[in-house]
Amino acid sequence: MRKVSFAEFGGPEVLQVIDAEEPHAGPGEIRIAVRAAGVNPADWRVREGQVLKAHPTELPAGVGLDAAGVVDEVGADVEGVKAGDHVFGEGSCTYAEFAVLSAWARMPEGLSFEEAAGYPSVVETALRIIGEVGVRPGQRLLVSGASGGVGSAVLQIARDRGITVIGTAGAANQDYLRGLGAVATTYGEGWVERVRRLGRVDAALDLAGSGVIRELVELTGDPRKVISIADLSAPEFGVRFSGVAGSVPDALAEAIDLISRGRLHIPVEKSYTLGEAAAAHADSQAGHTRGRRVMVV
Ligand SMILES: NC(=O)c1ccc[n+]([C@@H]2O[C@H](COP(=O)([O-])OP(=O)(O)OC[C@H]3O[C@@H](n4cnc5c(N)ncnc54)[C@H](OP(=O)(O)O)[C@@H]3O)[C@@H](O)[C@H]2O)c1
Repeated sequence: MRKVSFAEFGGPEVLQVIDAEEPHAGPGEIRIAVRAAGVNPADWRVREGQVLKAHPTELPAGVGLDAAGVVDEVGADVEGVKAGDHVFGEGSCTYAEFAVLSAWARMPEGLSFEEAAGYPSVVETALRIIGEVGVRPGQRLLVSGASGGVGSAVLQIARDRGITVIGTAGAANQDYLRGLGAVATTYGEGWVERVRRLGRVDAALDLAGSGVIRELVELTGDPRKVISIADLSAPEFGVRFSGVAGSVPDALAEAIDLISRGRLHIPVEKSYTLGEAAAAHADSQAGHTRGRRVMVV
């Protein structure tokens, strides 16, 4: 089968499409014919060798966590899914014609494979950090870096729960944030004052890792009311860094509920073929993705 792989850590140019052995589903796993794979910043962090502690990586290595496709192998001890089912979920080496998933759910009606591949990691992350920051209905949540994949999910889940969101994004994404129910403002020079003028902040999430932890603590008045997923210096300010994934099956179940009630939609910014994996990574690394980028197989 065709698969995206890298033999050394480095820039997007180390990604190659190779002919590889097909993987097989072990106990508790399924194999899918991949139709689309989500492009997450984690994918290029692994490719650069940035996160070897959390993701020990033996070379040559495949790429990709999220995928959507058609089940074609069901491992031992797996129930409730059969060959031919359309599923989305998380696994490994998903930029490939076939991939093994360790967590999955049946895709909801009306969702394309391309769209579905964008949900698993971002929804798991969004649900986890909304829970960890402890924000309640009626409260006001500041989201720094609100227009990307995780931000798009956070905004819509918060809206569904009756939480008011103030989101920061670039000038081109202000209407996008408003469309997701947030009060929008731009990041950059003067942003703290702009947020202050918008009123009280009960809790804050740092999704962009743009060096704003001190300001988020000032705005909330309490480091325990701030969570970062992107700034490893957060603990220096007494702020928690959230990096351990929660239950993916629970997150997918909640995503399906939200999608089927019309309360959650993650737009696909752009699709790429396997041969365009380097371009997909370079575009993701440029740091201005709206929603999610996906590989189409
Ligand atoms: N720790 C974890 O468990 C975990 C889980 C998932 C993701 N992450 C990390 O969290 C980060 C976000 O992930 P993602 O998938 O949402 O990324 P993404 O889709 O690539 O989104 C990046 C967003 O950052 C915004 N941005 C760029 N510069 C900014 C700035 N100076 N201030 C505020 N926003 C800025 C961009 O907004 P504009 O386009 O409007 O400029 C863009 O929408 C990544 O670093 C990723 O590695 C961590």
